[in-house]
Amino acid sequence: MQQLNATDLKNTASQYEKLMVPALFAPFSEQILDIAGFMPGHRLLDVACGTGIVARSAARRAGRARSTIIGLDPNPGMLAVAGDRAPELDWHEGEAEKLPFGDGEFDIVVSQFGLMFFEDRQAALREMQRVVAPGGRLLAAVFDDLSNIPGYRAMTDILGDVAGPDVAGALQVPFSLGDVDELHALCSEAGLSGAQITTHPGTARFPDTRTMVLADVQGWFPLAGISLSDGQIDEIVRRLDGALADHRADDGSVSFPLPAHLVIAKDGD
Ligand SMILES: C[S@@+](CC[C@H](N)C(=O)[O-])C[C@H]1O[C@@H](n2cnc3c(N)ncnc32)[C@H](O)[C@@H]1O
Repeated sequence: MQQLNATDLKNTASQYEKLMVPALFAPFSEQILDIAGFMPGHRLLDVACGTGIVARSAARRAGRARSTIIGLDPNPGMLAVAGDRAPELDWHEGEAEKLPFGDGEFDIVVSQFGLMFFEDRQAALREMQRVVAPGGRLLAAVFDDLSNIPGYRAMTDILGDVAGPDVAGALQVPFSLGDVDELHALCSEAGLSGAQITTHPGTARFPDTRTMVLADVQGWFPLAGISLSDGQIDEIVRRLDGALADHRADDGSVSFPLPAHLVIAKDGD
């Protein structure tokens, strides 16, 4: 991660929360909790929690029930925003590869769109499985391949033209585990040979193309050390408007398919 100071990290996380979470991550968090079978009283760990959307959605479902809900992320800016949003939950700074928890502490361990960013994905999966309680479940969501996600496929091509291959490459990282065979191999190598992988439909919904572009420019690229000029941003928005004409509604909002793969492993898999 680029060395940003605490204020820059929090500003970036605030933009992530404002522009990206409602468009991409909040809807998935509900789907994931349904599939996980989260019930009030369950102990849940949200690994790579970012601004904590999965943990916060779980807490809302748990209501007054005494559930242990913990979010973990290495980025203090993300955790600062998570803490502002839900000060009553437990937010830990740490990495998936080295979880600061004992064996079998959680009924449900979730990582929503984090695995692609981990340096050691095998170690992370092993660690997440280690902290699953007997009878519990691990769920890790990753985006499908870019070829199945028209909005980001178009944006990657445009970024490459306007800002160069490094910037296009930064947008490809979140989609780098889209190959199901590769995901199966990763699970086996991590010792999760009983894990199931299923693909789920999803939809990205932005209020307009500029918001879609700014979500990455302000909420993700600063962490990759990338900044674009206003002129580049305008050009990307102009070209994306054209490329996504078929995905734009009369009110200017853009929506397109955003399928994701879900790794589901039970304790002992
Ligand atoms: C796309 S965000 C997803 C955040 C959140 N789960 C959500 O759905 O909004 C990816 C997150 O992975 C975190 N991350 C990167 N490397 C990590 C690691 N080694 N261990 C845990 N989290 C990590 C980043 O800090 C970032 O918050």
